[in-house]
Amino acid sequence: MAGKGLEGVVASQSFISKVDGQAGRLIYRGYDIQDLAAHCTFEEAAYLVWHGDLPTAGQLDELSRSLAAHRPLSERMHHLISELPASAPPMSLLRTCVSILGLSDPRAESNDLQVNHEMAEELEAQVASIVASVDRIQRGKSPVLPEPGLSHAGNFLYMLSGKRPDELAERVFDGCLTLHIDHEFNASTFTARVIAATLSDIYSAVTGAIGALRGPLHGGANQRVMAMLEEIETPDRAEAYLKDLLAKKEKVMGFGHRVYKTEDPRAAILRRWCRELGEKTGQAQWAEISEILESVMLEEKGIHCNVDFYSASVYHMLGIPTDLFTPIFAVARTVGWTAHVLEQYADNRLIRPLSEYVGPMDRKVKPIAERQ
Ligand code: COA
Repeated sequence: MAGKGLEGVVASQSFISKVDGQAGRLIYRGYDIQDLAAHCTFEEAAYLVWHGDLPTAGQLDELSRSLAAHRPLSERMHHLISELPASAPPMSLLRTCVSILGLSDPRAESNDLQVNHEMAEELEAQVASIVASVDRIQRGKSPVLPEPGLSHAGNFLYMLSGKRPDELAERVFDGCLTLHIDHEFNASTFTARVIAATLSDIYSAVTGAIGALRGPLHGGANQRVMAMLEEIETPDRAEAYLKDLLAKKEKVMGFGHRVYKTEDPRAAILRRWCRELGEKTGQAQWAEISEILESVMLEEKGIHCNVDFYSASVYHMLGIPTDLFTPIFAVARTVGWTAHVLEQYADNRLIRPLSEYVGPMDRKVKPIAERQ
């Protein structure tokens, strides 16, 4: 029988990404994440993950134009967002909005790969706009219309704040999106594949994946990391705070990973950006607190931080509200989810494992009056 939580189980082959937990490497389609984060934009990395190769200038231009064309939300979507409960977490609103997008798309039932490819790009564009608009509407502000000349990352920050981001903010946020695009069979991606493998539609697969991502053991951890950092407040309190959590046997958010047994390569890149932004914005305390937590956690438990640890303070310094951290993860991961859905459709077999039944056997039904 497979280990609890399917640990160590290889559920299928995939050409999309590889996590090497021993060496601490993450590969998209053969390229190291360090290389991609340093030399490619999010759009280039998204093209790579969807198509298998980096784009030519013409292909990149086409993708950028397609994303720009599909960013504006319909009036109906804006209205729907404003009608949904304002107190609901943005991640739940996003889940509902993606499901609603599927209702009005006549292509949703199509099994054609090209059509699904188009829907994948459109979903990426729309998911980013939904997250930004949900935030604006929840805060009683009008949604900001997208600006066609901006990159996907720059446009998202613009739609959130109404202001064009500076070079550092756009570059760092673009890199954050790239780092979060894919991570082989993580819980939400596997959810998307299970749904796609029933030959259900791409909207259902992404809706289900959002539901899986929002949990605190998966994408929901980054929001809790920020709450922890804010509670710690100053570097001198970090060590005692963490030791107290560990003494109470509580899980520390942003640490540990099912696959990485060494440093998560994404965390190493995010740590650098955290320092850079801290210096630029006068908020060096977040990197200082985080580095103390990291070293105490390594010393006490031998556990490394994961992608959610430094992304929390990086997003905070980019001016992003904490309740949007997990929805932003979904913005980036929509590329990975949809790439996996396309891969599943291309060579499908229903995903249906077995369970080992350990309950009682051979019981006989008693009339209701005789039951206790
Ligand atoms: N804080 C404290 N201890 C942790 C820990 C954490 N964040 N992550 C793992 N551990 C410890 C567990 O207590 C357990 O110790 P034990 O064997 O003494 O009981 C051991 O490490 C194995 O942990 P387990 O929860 O079984 O590992 P997993 O592979 O099932 O879980 C995570 C992986 C990511 C769910 C887990 O590390 C976790 O809950 N992390 C916090 C949430 C988080 O940051 N999620 C984002 C992931 S990218």
